[in-house]
Amino acid sequence: MIKWSLIACCLAQLLPQLVALDNGLALTPPMGWLAWERYVCETDCNKYPNECIDQGLFESMAEQLVADGYAQLGYQYVNIDDCWSKREREPTTGQLSPDPARFPSMRALADKIHSLGLKLGIYGDCGTRTCQNFPGQLESNENLTGNHFESDAQTFAEWQIDSFKFDGCYMNANKASQLCPPMGVALNKTGRAMLFSCSWPAYENDLHLPTNWTLVEERCNLWRAFGDIEDSWQSVLETIDWFVRKQDIILAHHGPGHWFDADQLVIGDFGLSRDQERAHMAIWCVWASPLYMSNDLRKINKESSRLLRNKWLIEVNQDPMGIFGLMVLQAGQLQVFAKPVGPLRNSCPSYAIVYLDRRTLGNGKFVSFPLIKIIERLHAKLSALPKWASWYSDCLQDNSTVFNVNDLFNDNSKIGQLKLNGQLELRVDPSGAQMVKLTRL
Ligand code: GLA
Repeated sequence: MIKWSLIACCLAQLLPQLVALDNGLALTPPMGWLAWERYVCETDCNKYPNECIDQGLFESMAEQLVADGYAQLGYQYVNIDDCWSKREREPTTGQLSPDPARFPSMRALADKIHSLGLKLGIYGDCGTRTCQNFPGQLESNENLTGNHFESDAQTFAEWQIDSFKFDGCYMNANKASQLCPPMGVALNKTGRAMLFSCSWPAYENDLHLPTNWTLVEERCNLWRAFGDIEDSWQSVLETIDWFVRKQDIILAHHGPGHWFDADQLVIGDFGLSRDQERAHMAIWCVWASPLYMSNDLRKINKESSRLLRNKWLIEVNQDPMGIFGLMVLQAGQLQVFAKPVGPLRNSCPSYAIVYLDRRTLGNGKFVSFPLIKIIERLHAKLSALPKWASWYSDCLQDNSTVFNVNDLFNDNSKIGQLKLNGQLELRVDPSGAQMVKLTRL
């Protein structure tokens, strides 16, 4: 006799595999360029011919990514955000179409981006309208009746799109975890691998609703969980503070294929000092956050450009273990962040360490912490996860362990060597950061 309970149990086990995002993408944090923070919803191409959301903007940024060597370092995605479509769907077919004056051919844009070896991303919304009042993927906020998930996914696949950001304005946040994940399934069903970037956790966060992180991790390649970054140090700090408050949760759900997205890099824009830009880059890299620049690559100053192309920082960001770097120590205005990275020696990791100085007064200062304290705190927190737990017992014992210390902002130059029982002293500027790599010998 067939045991129905047995079948039900096996089906239940199979089901997540059928719907889970299994697109093999984003094994390291995705990198690229995204229009939103810098170009917002500028659609007046007469007044702002080189700064409006149109095909030319994305083509010129793509060309710049290649010409200036960003692409080679991993900046691969060129992402359209809001304001690309017509105000309404096609009346007879319900199809989404790009604004014809600004995007004469989405397919031609994708072909151009691909011919440069890059990937094209596009934007939609798990509500009835996007944040800037363009059509969303839903017709109702209560249920999936009349949704456009499959037909829009098909349209994107036909245009050869590689990444899709699913925003959450005009969305019912109380029902987000039922209404939004099926869009990922629709994307998968097209057979074209498209990165799925989810925003509903940020909208749940806004309303103080709980987020089902296991679901998000299973269904999304990356996701926003906090508000929009803007071009100011205050905004960067607010983002840092939210991520630090949530770091235990983040650590547990962040890794290859699925990433918390701290939002765009605003390096090379108007609002940050040179030191603040370094701090911003250092923290996004130690977190293994996706790195999407939002700036004008045609006009960016040399120093910001060099910072964005710092291969030593990028290497930390792209470390294959994909561990979220943690804030492990705080003394006054100074915060210490640490992240295990390769190379491993006897199965024990090396480390990237950031000293973030939040003072807004005074001169650069030498700051010193016992290395063992930094590493011990880091491993104590990591031991919450079975995967990294053995490091606590195996990697802290031998005081004679030696590390090479390299200055990542200074072309990886070697500062010296440090034993596990030594002091890590670095000079940090107000609202600035230092970042070093400790390679286990
Ligand atoms: C929201 C998102 C932003 C951007 C805008 C577009 O605010 O969080 O990243 O996509 O919408 O309107």
